[in-house]
Amino acid sequence: METNVLYYGDNLDILRKYIPDGSVDLIYLDPPFNSKKDYNILFKEDDSQWSPAQVKAFEDTWRWDAQAEAAYQEVIDTSSMRLAKLISAMREGIGANDVMAYLVMMATRLTELHRVLKATGSVYLHCDPTMSHYLKLVLDQIFGPRNFRNEIVWHYRKWPTGRLQFQRNHDIIFFYSKSESLARTFNQLFMERAASTLQRFGTKKIISGRDQTGQRIPSATMEEDSLGVRQDDVWDIGRVPPIKQLFPTEKPLALLERIVSASSKEGDVVLDPFCGCGTALVASHKLDRKWIGIDITHLAIAVMKRRLQDHFPGIRLEIIGEPMDLPSAQELARQNRYQFQWWALSLIDARPMGEKKKGADKGVDGVIPLVDTPDKKLKRIVVSVKSGKVGVGILRELRGVIEANNDPLGILLTLESPTEPMVTEAAAAGFYESPIWQKKFPRLQILTIADIFQGKRPNIPSPMPPPKAATINHEGRQANLI
Ligand SMILES: C[S@@+](CC[C@H](N)C(=O)[O-])C[C@H]1O[C@@H](n2cnc3c(N)ncnc32)[C@H](O)[C@@H]1O
Repeated sequence: METNVLYYGDNLDILRKYIPDGSVDLIYLDPPFNSKKDYNILFKEDDSQWSPAQVKAFEDTWRWDAQAEAAYQEVIDTSSMRLAKLISAMREGIGANDVMAYLVMMATRLTELHRVLKATGSVYLHCDPTMSHYLKLVLDQIFGPRNFRNEIVWHYRKWPTGRLQFQRNHDIIFFYSKSESLARTFNQLFMERAASTLQRFGTKKIISGRDQTGQRIPSATMEEDSLGVRQDDVWDIGRVPPIKQLFPTEKPLALLERIVSASSKEGDVVLDPFCGCGTALVASHKLDRKWIGIDITHLAIAVMKRRLQDHFPGIRLEIIGEPMDLPSAQELARQNRYQFQWWALSLIDARPMGEKKKGADKGVDGVIPLVDTPDKKLKRIVVSVKSGKVGVGILRELRGVIEANNDPLGILLTLESPTEPMVTEAAAAGFYESPIWQKKFPRLQILTIADIFQGKRPNIPSPMPPPKAATINHEGRQANLI
């Protein structure tokens, strides 16, 4: 099994296709919570005069449809009798609605996660009180109530919402082990003593007990320092403030470090099947664990790839499921135009532009920030991505945008080859001379996806990330090595 790898795709398919039985030591999953909201990523530059771009990262709205009905039937037909009975009773009680659609989606995935977990392994399911009561019933059926270890309350503070109720300031994390075996991995963690204990005994070990007659002996301190008190199940850890988030719903690294430290050893394999911007993967890498991340959007994969590279320069990681050749890029464009766009932008390190574009930015899909003057003014290289037919009109539109906004450069990234008039139009746009580089760059550039596969990159003044080091092909699947 490959490790230190990011998979793009639906985790149900990836788990079934690539992850063998009993191969993972620790699973952390932070799935959508059925919050009925869309989650947006805000792309913004530090100290920038640009307005931030907002791009929908994922949807958390569920509905009962043919897919939910099929998932329900699958649970009834193929899972254990206990789970099938529970799910069918829940449908009876709750009805065929959004909650049930969410629960069958989770039941099929939790069944696969149980399969891939080692006998000594643990799973941590992150959710909130909207669904936690239902999810615990499902977990009990799949992992067994005897393997329930903790309901961890992650407490944080956030802006008050002003409803006529108490402020909701916690998430729930269910911790189950695969078995009751005493060989299961658990490293005891400690927390600080209560203030009153610290005041009375300081940090030294305390001995207390009873004498032979059963009378309490007054507590006394020893020479040795105490490790603290055993970590309990209410964790006070600050949230990542929205302004600092790389990704909506990003969880704090300290939370993930605690889970990884408690339930795995160095060299163990940690799996996050809903990995978002990869907090669990960063914590695992930092603590010398191997890791596997899965996410269903190229946006998350691109953010995660950048984050891992920023945290661990020179890291060797593999991405499986990204297009590796023209036919697979065409297939992605056919399946989902937005996923194609995000993937294409990540190839040249451009950030998505977001849905709310001003009229003046018509046709612009992404931007690459550029600073090339002594006054450090932020400029933008604008990028337009096309997966369908292209003609000279598209290029004229892009030229119009850069001239109207005084942007130094424009790039058209296209799946189809450009026509002759397009090449002529690009040449007619002339050159941009960069003050710092003291070099001229073609103002309008056309790059095809085939060019990118052949290693070509835009000719622009800002430093580009290193090109992909190698491409490998594992039996029946392809991967990018970066
Ligand atoms: C709540 S976020 C995870 C955030 C993550 N814990 C972090 O710290 O960044 C849930 C993620 O699950 C992904 N997702 C949703 N459904 C999925 C599926 N079926 N397979 C794989 N990923 C999925 C979404 O794209 C989203 O990135």
